[in-house]
Amino acid sequence: MHPFSSLLLLGTLALQAVLGRPNSLLSEREIIKRDVDSFFATEVPYALSQVKCNIASGCNAGGVASGLVIASPSKSDPDYFYHWTRDAALVFKAVVDRFVNEYDADLQALIQNYITSQARLQTVSNPSGSFYDGSGLGEPKFNADGSQFTGSWGRPQRDGPPLRALTMITYSKWLINNGYQSTAKDLVWPVIQNDLAYTAQYWNQTGFDLWEEVQGSSFFTIAASHRALVEGSNLAKTLGNSCSACDAIAPQVLCFQQSFWSSSGNYALANINVNNGRSGKDTNVFVSTNQGFDPSLGCDATTFQPCSDRALASHKVVVDSFRSIYSINSGFGKGQAVAVGRYPEDTYYNGNPWYLHTLGAAEQLYNALYVWKSQGSITVTSTSLPFFQDLSSSVSTGTYASDTPTYMTLYNTAMVYADGFVDNVAKYVGANGALAEQYDRNSGSPLSARDLTWSYASVLTAAARRAGVVPLGWAETNVAATSVPGSCYATSANGAYTAAPTSPFPASQTPGNGEPVPSTAPTSTRTTGTAAPTTTSCAQATSVAVSFNERKVTSFGQTVKIVGNIPALGSWDTSKAVALSTSQYTSNNPVWSVSITLAAGQALQYKYIVVNTDGSVTWEADPNRAYTVPKGCATQTTKSDSWQ
Ligand SMILES: *[C@@H]1O[C@H](CO)[C@@H](O)[C@H](O)[C@H]1NC(C)=O
Repeated sequence: MHPFSSLLLLGTLALQAVLGRPNSLLSEREIIKRDVDSFFATEVPYALSQVKCNIASGCNAGGVASGLVIASPSKSDPDYFYHWTRDAALVFKAVVDRFVNEYDADLQALIQNYITSQARLQTVSNPSGSFYDGSGLGEPKFNADGSQFTGSWGRPQRDGPPLRALTMITYSKWLINNGYQSTAKDLVWPVIQNDLAYTAQYWNQTGFDLWEEVQGSSFFTIAASHRALVEGSNLAKTLGNSCSACDAIAPQVLCFQQSFWSSSGNYALANINVNNGRSGKDTNVFVSTNQGFDPSLGCDATTFQPCSDRALASHKVVVDSFRSIYSINSGFGKGQAVAVGRYPEDTYYNGNPWYLHTLGAAEQLYNALYVWKSQGSITVTSTSLPFFQDLSSSVSTGTYASDTPTYMTLYNTAMVYADGFVDNVAKYVGANGALAEQYDRNSGSPLSARDLTWSYASVLTAAARRAGVVPLGWAETNVAATSVPGSCYATSANGAYTAAPTSPFPASQTPGNGEPVPSTAPTSTRTTGTAAPTTTSCAQATSVAVSFNERKVTSFGQTVKIVGNIPALGSWDTSKAVALSTSQYTSNNPVWSVSITLAAGQALQYKYIVVNTDGSVTWEADPNRAYTVPKGCATQTTKSDSWQ
């Protein structure tokens, strides 16, 4: 009997158990948890080996040019033996995230080859256009030997350049953090710069979506574009360069992104500027929210963070859309994990669940759980209420601190829900852990392309998030990360495109052995965000320097201070509040900051206050902010807030 049958039991027991019999919830939870633990224990190493197989010189990649990655070894029905810019960037993002968390010389060689190959590929003229005006960067796919693909296709696809930029930016941060700033500047930044130029120039034109079917404006493409411009600008500053097009355009991309939210449907629409008769319910939103995850943004809704009310509401609507249409989902009610596809109207191979989307549903929840735990509370808004009611029917709107029964119920049921999606994949996985693209909606058998690289990459990211290993953040203190302009404009910036060097990377760039980081680099980009890996062996930090950043426009003579429920924060006595400094404050980025060393794992509540010249105090609005100092290897972290 497969362990999945425990889920059937869980469905009826879990919700009752939450209300009346917490111990039986815990034992049911243990069963699923053990299933998922053992599935990932074998599947993660297998997935990594299969990802490597599909990259040039790997076991499935004969004839593939150095640095390129095939979407699948399948050469017919369907033929996926091509290098897609999007798929490759997403796969390598998972590889780079893994590498950043744990040094691996083999992965590093693959990453370096990928970057060099993309520098070359950018210049290859193709049916989408050429390099001189950037248009060729929108080409979705290339032959495995690196030559242009001239068959008819849904093109251009404008998500490729921003996604590729994100992947290369993450590797650049590793280089900088380990003292190899000149490599980042000389070899990686020139490739990134072309992709950022493309994004700033073409973001406001229609293109094909990530499923290569719909010509319009895709939520996924816009979300990736916004992140790339913000993070690209941050990286440019660290390298002593600038990206003025990023700074000019990023706020407008975020502005446009807000218009994908359907308040009547309570979910993010997959595509707009299109009339295709679809509902717009689409796992496009899972891929987007997981790709845009930055733990320092908390549950920010403008960027659709995984625990934001908008992203959770979308999670519910999209998952529910697959409950009744796949027969393998029958019998599983709301709040119980099911197999998840792309969008309910899908007819490709008759429309089926995809492994990467069922795992993506889990990954979003693991991301949310991470943030809830680190902030020490869960907030239920009227937008996210339907999602949370599926976990606990009696819940109402409000903020629940981590020591309340409601928090514990929601946290535990969300964890069981997340693990249930992984258990679904474990049930329908192919022989020896093989992951194709899809699994049959009626029988659950693997379907379509075999050994899809992206399916395996989704195992790596879901398993890492479940283990509390989160990617580097991207927002830092850039105000364009979350502030939405009052009006949206259709603008763009014409870019300059320059062929990037394709010379080999220097040898032996092992961790921490490079030249020291110049002291002019902003420290914010040298820290490793709030990542606190819990699975790697490392010295557990006993205290953590928490940098509290508060965005607040102030006038001359005013001081921002922080006050909270612990002695280090004045025990709510405003005369003992800790003053923040304006050393990072500019008119474009009005951030006050202070670093306070706190005990790892300490839970606290706090608020910011403004102290006026006459000594009077203005408090932030309720509720109190809640935060738990991360307990892990990191000895410093950042908590970014905006005046509430
Ligand atoms: C361009 O941006 C404007 C302003 O946000 C928006 O109304 C329009 O739909 C966008 N068009 C495309 C194709 O992105």
